Amino acid sequence: MSLDAVLSRIDADLDAATARLFELLRIPSISTDPAYDGDVAKAADWLAAELTGLGFEASVRPTTGHPMVVAHGAELAVGAGPHVLFYGHYDVQPVDPLELWRRDPFDPVIEEQNGKRVIRARGAADDKGQLMTFIEACRAWKAETGALPAQVTIFLEGEEESGSPSLVPFLEAQADELRAEVALICDTGLYADGVPGIVTQLRGMLQEEITVTGPRIDLHSGMFGGVAMNPIRVLNRVLANLHDDHGVIQVPGFYDGIPELDPELKAQWDGLGFQAETFLGPVGLSHPAGEAGRSGLEMIWSRPTAEVNGIWGGYTGAGFKTVLPSEAHAKISFRLVAGQDPERLREAFRDWVTAQMPPDCSVAFTGHGASPAGMMDTSHPIFEKTRAALSEEWPTEAAYIGCGGSIPVAGYFKTILGMDSVLAGFGQDDDAIHSPNEKYDVESFHRGIRSWARVLGKLSNT
Ligand code: BES
Repeated sequence: MSLDAVLSRIDADLDAATARLFELLRIPSISTDPAYDGDVAKAADWLAAELTGLGFEASVRPTTGHPMVVAHGAELAVGAGPHVLFYGHYDVQPVDPLELWRRDPFDPVIEEQNGKRVIRARGAADDKGQLMTFIEACRAWKAETGALPAQVTIFLEGEEESGSPSLVPFLEAQADELRAEVALICDTGLYADGVPGIVTQLRGMLQEEITVTGPRIDLHSGMFGGVAMNPIRVLNRVLANLHDDHGVIQVPGFYDGIPELDPELKAQWDGLGFQAETFLGPVGLSHPAGEAGRSGLEMIWSRPTAEVNGIWGGYTGAGFKTVLPSEAHAKISFRLVAGQDPERLREAFRDWVTAQMPPDCSVAFTGHGASPAGMMDTSHPIFEKTRAALSEEWPTEAAYIGCGGSIPVAGYFKTILGMDSVLAGFGQDDDAIHSPNEKYDVESFHRGIRSWARVLGKLSNT
């Protein structure tokens, strides 16, 4: 049977596949920092060349932001399998604080960590290592059988980590070209070590930056302190008011329209045996900080959050400066769930903050990304085929799970292209994505490639 031969080829080719991934990891494609624009473009070129080499009709598509890579495999397909659209992102998060990395983030290496072999580099898990699992699976099918068992279009984004500003116009303009029966997205994690999961619900996102201004200029804190209002004090009050003592978010109307978790799904999640304490232990914590009375999985998968991602103002350099600053700033993001409208909440948040300004202080807002939560309809047969393929590859059967993170493209595939997404990925909770010393397990890379090879095999029904 050809699948067995394809899987054996993947095993034999693992070192070469790892070397190819290392080439991609060496390109510092940080999308959010304009200093790296040339490197983002270089990563797009590298991928398009790689896909062309596999027989795809691949091209780099410019946008007003970073380029997209689109590759069509219609010529490669045999049989009557469905048309699928594969998605991954080739941009990465910034590396700072650089001093906390034990080695150069863009000089990938294989190391031992807790008895496992891991690939260490920025983007190893999020998302270069993951997107290459799919490309390598295609390579193995092509090399072994001369063709792909299904019609595959590959769509790779270079702006995911910076809020995808070009994505919606691109999807709208290329809707006919990109529409397939279903999307396959590889940008999520395993449920637990050895336990694969298909994510059926993702949280949405709302990002706001606020600047509170008090005095016209920075002031001497002895000459003016006591009589002049300090904008850091005002900002802190607002941020402290975001949650009550039970972890409930205080913006009026924030929870309006959120449905209670379906009891059947809740029972299924409870059956996964998640322990918040065990999850928090490795990062040095022990107490769940979300809404009182909710399970840990509900807090991460089905309840919204408000988090302060950054706060600054006044003097933060070495030594001390007795300043009463003119401005105070914060970046705040909300993870949203089904039923919440990001733009309505943006207005509600702004009204709520503005109403808390004392005399002499004003507030200005800069809006960043906004995307609704994504809920998948799992009735397309590709969901069960993927679940079966993952269950055959991994030691434990695959589960349908939620995800605390946000992958805005999944929602847009649904609203703009009318496609549901099968979200299957192989990251681990300790991969340190967005953090120093990011890694991807060699096992995730290897079994990830084998997983997609199995999924492709099932699509053709061969
Ligand atoms: N791969 C992540 C999403 C993710 C996070 C999946 C955690 C599984 C577990 C994705 O690349 C990501 O980080 N997305 C951003 C989107 C944001 C910038 C709009 C996120 O969730 O912060």
